[in-house]
Amino acid sequence: MYISWNLPTIALTLAAVALGQDVSIRAVEKAFNAADIPTNLNIVFKPTALLEVSLPQATGRPITLHAGIQVPRNDTAGPPTFNVVGNVGRGPFVVATVDPDAPTPQAPTEAQIRHFLGGNFINEGGRLVNSTPAISEFLQPTPPAGSDAHRYIFLLFKQSPQFATQTLINSTSSIELFNISQFASAVGLGNPIAGTFMRVAPPS
Ligand SMILES: *[C@@H]1O[C@H](CO)[C@@H](O)[C@H](O)[C@H]1NC(C)=O
Ligand SMILES: *[C@@H]1O[C@H](CO)[C@@H](O)[C@H](O)[C@H]1NC(C)=O
Ligand SMILES: *[C@@H]1O[C@H](CO)[C@@H](O)[C@H](O)[C@H]1NC(C)=O
Repeated sequence: MYISWNLPTIALTLAAVALGQDVSIRAVEKAFNAADIPTNLNIVFKPTALLEVSLPQATGRPITLHAGIQVPRNDTAGPPTFNVVGNVGRGPFVVATVDPDAPTPQAPTEAQIRHFLGGNFINEGGRLVNSTPAISEFLQPTPPAGSDAHRYIFLLFKQSPQFATQTLINSTSSIELFNISQFASAVGLGNPIAGTFMRVAPPS
């Protein structure tokens, strides 16, 4: 059987290999399922868009995540920048980042750790730009020595009106024992419309 590759597909595939980002919504969904993320986060994950997360580097190009990528801890200082690919409208949007594996994936007694929570992101030609400070600014992954790699999961939600007036979480709230599904449900965010994740191990 011949597999026919049309030029746009080849171009997209080559671009994906070169830049490393997610190009298939279905592949992201499969990677989330394979990593047990919907079960562990109690979320329904049926994405309709791609969330691109890029980590700036001290030298060289940013690292753009694809779902499940392992990133050296030292390259995760951030803060990340976000893009959305898909017909999702102008926004506003909420981005949340959680670690469900703290302190270890085997006994995540402190999970979830809230590594980022920000709203008022506007889609400006694919770039997600926020005009207000995040509720929880980005915290670099710090899996403890001896732990297996943790999953750091980025989720994009359509922002609800209730989000702007919520009083459950503020910048002084503990980042431990966060529950993204509970929070999303409490403030009417619904299910995430996109996401991706990376794995980060303790420095050896
Ligand atoms: C980690 O990053 C710091 C500063 O960004 C750099 O000085 C150091 O050499 C890096 N370490 C490794 C092991 O790459
Ligand atoms: C922030 O949230 C905590 C609970 O997480 C609450 O105790 C505190 O009063 C809140 N602070 C402000 C300024 O709303
Ligand atoms: C998060 O909250 C949901 C209910 O909204 C609950 O079923 C789940 O067990 C909670 N997860 C954690 C890690 O506490």
